[in-house]
Amino acid sequence: MSTINYSEKIPNNVNLAEDRALQRALEQWQPNFLHWWGDAGPEGSTDFDVYLRTAVSVDPQGWAQFGYTKMRDYRWGIFLNPGDASREIHFGDHKGERAWQDVPGEHRANLRRIIVTQGDTEPASVEQQRHLGLTAPSQYDLRNLFQVNVEEGRHLWAMVYLLHKHFGRDGREEAEALLERRSGDANNPRILGAFNEKTPDWLAFFMFTYFTDRDGKYQLCALAESAFDPLARTTKFMLTEEAHHMFVGEAGVSRVIQRTVNAMNELKTDDVARLRAAGVIDLPTIQRYINFHYSVTIDLFGADESSNAATFYSSGLKGRFEEGKRGDDHQLRGQTYKVLHVVDGMLVEKEVPMLNALNEVLRDDYITDSVAGVNRWNKVIDKAGIAFKLAVPHKAFHRNIGSLSGARISPDGRVVSQAEWQAGVNQWLPSDADRAYVASLMGRVVEPGKFANWIAPPVMGINRQPADFEYVRFA
Ligand SMILES: [Fe+2]
Ligand SMILES: [Fe+2]
Repeated sequence: MSTINYSEKIPNNVNLAEDRALQRALEQWQPNFLHWWGDAGPEGSTDFDVYLRTAVSVDPQGWAQFGYTKMRDYRWGIFLNPGDASREIHFGDHKGERAWQDVPGEHRANLRRIIVTQGDTEPASVEQQRHLGLTAPSQYDLRNLFQVNVEEGRHLWAMVYLLHKHFGRDGREEAEALLERRSGDANNPRILGAFNEKTPDWLAFFMFTYFTDRDGKYQLCALAESAFDPLARTTKFMLTEEAHHMFVGEAGVSRVIQRTVNAMNELKTDDVARLRAAGVIDLPTIQRYINFHYSVTIDLFGADESSNAATFYSSGLKGRFEEGKRGDDHQLRGQTYKVLHVVDGMLVEKEVPMLNALNEVLRDDYITDSVAGVNRWNKVIDKAGIAFKLAVPHKAFHRNIGSLSGARISPDGRVVSQAEWQAGVNQWLPSDADRAYVASLMGRVVEPGKFANWIAPPVMGINRQPADFEYVRFA
């Protein structure tokens, strides 16, 4: 059941060959997808043979297959975790009923919207990252970028399968539109703000895969609880791919920090100008990148009070993170949760119905998880004997969604005047000068085993390959 059939045009473990109409519809979408990949995917990469990992089955051991592939020949396809015919809905108004194998008519519009919004982020991130291959700090990093990119392409396939199979003509139109919107396009942008931002350099890429792919993890975990069983099963498999993306981010930032603290100790200085002269990224600049990517990413969870969030939960479309492990009644009526507001120039907590605050609940779970990785980065600094601590900013800092939208809040959580904001912003968010400096470091390093000066080598190669392994064969 869990083995993937690679002999078909579209690899799958859903017996696609038995549903001719669906197979035909997806085979018509496939060349459009490849056209999108050529147009918006990794720039100049067509002829590269890349050492990629491909899933051979959906169980945890099914990831062992590594080999050289041209990315456009990557076996994108449709993989769902195995189903459980007796699965019951375990939260919301339908709790205790049998999970749905098809979309109930009354939830069709909301489910479509949820799937399209998730699906839209997948090609968006590929578009955001499309120029990065030109400035990769090593072959190892270039390969990791490409692995992330092909898997985001597969995540798009996962959502498109659901649209084609369960939403008829509307679904097919949405699947086309997913290939038409473009990240950052003024006329036809991607749906969510963070996915229209640029990912201009590799520090931004590592921050994106640490913070923003982790948003993906939390959204997918919430959808993996869904009463709509095909959505639950496909998001469960997507989560196994997401883990690698977050690893790339966490390890990438960690290696940047390692290189920086090494230089600080060699030069016996924390002077930013001297460190920049030595070609490494100073810790205050890394902090400002954290502030930017963290704040933009937590906006993705949506407004702190949302009647849509309540509807999605009560109707069983989207659960909480680890819904099944929670000890409450899984219906949440009459319960409350605290959200933040600015009142008379102060941040104050306000109790609101928990059902309306479920975006905030998911955001807070995400925050707990994000902070853990930042603490691991601090261990690298600590081990080097340097007194400096990175931190995520206050969750009210630099927000653009919900009741905190547009409020002027410092990273330490003080409401500040416009004048204070102006005076502080270049200390709090990457300045033009920071971005220009980081951009000046970006040069292409492609000799096997060599790394750009601003980043330390990884502790271990991919699939335990040696340090000088040739991860990408350039044609
Ligand atoms: Fe994804
Ligand atoms: Fe991802």
